[in-house]
Amino acid sequence: MESDKAIFEKLILEDRASRESRNWRGTFLQYLDQVREEASITKLAHARVYEMIMTPGARDILESDDSRVKRLFKDEPLRVYNFFAEEFFGIERTVAQIVRYFHSAALKGEESRQVLYLMGPVGSGKSSLVERLQRGLEDLTPVYAIEGCPMQEEPLHLLPRHLRREFEKMLGVHIEGDLCPVCRYRLKQEFGTRYEEVPIIMRSFSKRNRIGIGVVPPVDPNNQDTSVLIGSEDISKLDRFSEGDPRVLDLNGALNVGNRGLVEFIEVFKNEIEYLHAMITATQEKVIPAPGRHGMVYVDTVIVAHSNEAEWQKFKSDHTNEAILDRIVVVKVPYNLRLTEEVKIYQKIIRYSDFRAHVAPHTLEVASMFAILSRLEPTPKCDLMTKLKLYNGEEVIEKGRTKKIDVRELRDDVKREGMNGISTRFIMKALDNALSDNLAGNCINPINVREALINMTKETDLPDDTRRQYLEFLQDILHKEYLELLEKEITKAFVYSYQEQAESLFQNYLDHAEAYVNKTKVKDRNTKEELQPDEGFLKSIEEQIAIIGSAAEGFRQEVIAYLWAASRRSMRVSYQSYEPLREAIEKRLMTSVRDISRIITKARTRDEEQTEKYNVMVQNLIENGYCPNCVDVVLKYAANNLWKD
Ligand SMILES: Nc1ncnc2c1ncn2[C@@H]1O[C@H](COP(=O)(O)OP(=O)(O)O)[C@@H](O)[C@H]1O
Ligand SMILES: [Mg+2]
Repeated sequence: MESDKAIFEKLILEDRASRESRNWRGTFLQYLDQVREEASITKLAHARVYEMIMTPGARDILESDDSRVKRLFKDEPLRVYNFFAEEFFGIERTVAQIVRYFHSAALKGEESRQVLYLMGPVGSGKSSLVERLQRGLEDLTPVYAIEGCPMQEEPLHLLPRHLRREFEKMLGVHIEGDLCPVCRYRLKQEFGTRYEEVPIIMRSFSKRNRIGIGVVPPVDPNNQDTSVLIGSEDISKLDRFSEGDPRVLDLNGALNVGNRGLVEFIEVFKNEIEYLHAMITATQEKVIPAPGRHGMVYVDTVIVAHSNEAEWQKFKSDHTNEAILDRIVVVKVPYNLRLTEEVKIYQKIIRYSDFRAHVAPHTLEVASMFAILSRLEPTPKCDLMTKLKLYNGEEVIEKGRTKKIDVRELRDDVKREGMNGISTRFIMKALDNALSDNLAGNCINPINVREALINMTKETDLPDDTRRQYLEFLQDILHKEYLELLEKEITKAFVYSYQEQAESLFQNYLDHAEAYVNKTKVKDRNTKEELQPDEGFLKSIEEQIAIIGSAAEGFRQEVIAYLWAASRRSMRVSYQSYEPLREAIEKRLMTSVRDISRIITKARTRDEEQTEKYNVMVQNLIENGYCPNCVDVVLKYAANNLWKD
């Protein structure tokens, strides 16, 4: 107990100390000293965000250990930014475009005067991306600001115009922007223009406290009042102060609040055009009108807007909007299309939620397959499931060969892939539904999730042919795909030391195939006896992937050629190295136990030996991530579907 208390206290004190170091307070004169020490404290909003993104570092996507990633991105240089990488999956290209925007904006390119606009379907991560930026700002060291300024403005605005050139030279900074009406008034009234005495403080970004982060939700069309953006005049003060007295101003609009940081426009095109004009002027001219007759107010903020594609198209098709269109940098945020990454999305959402149930192996995978299939556009080059696997960087085997389809070409053939289909939220809801149907088991598994997806697809308002296609994915394609996964899994649980057996088949196959190709003999590893290559054995493997007759010779040569190439590059080979052979070996192992697994799994009563085998298998499954509830479910499912009588 005591030690806990000590830990708590230490944490609190440390936190306070670190916060106090952020509580710098001084006069403007002292602030100038700070600037001379570290000119970068005066940087503008875009540069601040860019630095924030770059600080945790970046790497080339090819620096990954994942062979699938290497295969997918081998011809495409792409950076992965750590700032986003832990939370966003499979949208590296989108993230790179966002970073590129900030990079040029930080260098004061044209982008610094344009709106960053994220466009994509629901649930593709637009809001989350903006939220990540906002959270990043909240974690930054606070900015220096004029005390009492409603817009936490840059203290350098206090410098009169005629001195700026000289100060810029001395401090090595660029000074832009003018005092807001409130500060201008206070300077005159309280300091008699002795600006060097104006107190400067540090302020932390905070979305909740509306400091440096402003949010503009879509506004009720009947109540479009620009005060949401630029603040208002406090009517109750109008009788105390004369018209034009800045003390009546409430500079609390989103664009005021977001000064130095970021302003988010949610569902931006739902707003009236008048709103959009204010947004555009704020980025383009870096000024916004003050409410009433108070002139213009300088703002320095990153404007990020987002909406779905339909709204964008509608807006774009109106020619009167051309001037606005020219001032927008569009970044598409499509759905992720990589299976491994889609699974990570749900793992992340589950981790951050209250969802506390067992998730059986392959559950998220099957749900993710459905999501991705629904997002893919058909191609004449292959079926959709094959496309899904190719997009995932997998090698797809057909007739004993790796299918030669260029993923790059597949992607070039489509225009709007990823802009349609099932959203992350739909899938999450299905996971929730599956759980509420199995509260007693407290477990979701591929079977109840697929069931939930089928029900939701039937109930959701969808065009008929879309619904038909989704049901085909679920009831046909995914059904088959899952059964394959399941059979492999059960085989692994059944075969004693699966890995070793697979390796030994692999080695044997290589020995015999090599001898066959080179017309030599095989030396038995134990007896050292010289034997003829065993063609019967070779065939028993090859026929698993439909290589028969004259095709066998070619296949054996390919295997040996592959092996030579691998050994030249001193690669370690295993049964998993050469995809076609891996598949053949796994199938061979499956065949070898198919009968026994069928009998044992389906049996109502088992003799002693069978019971023993069954229990070992169940135990192995549990070790591989099943719980007592889903072990039952999947084995029943296997009994009814995999080994139908
Ligand atoms: N590619 C992705 N990587 C990580 N999470 C994602 C991705 N796409 C969607 N999500 C998650 O899905 C959920 C819905 O996303 P959200 O940002 O609300 O979408 P949008 O604003 O585009 O409708 C969030 O939890 C989000 O983090
Ligand atoms: Mg959103």
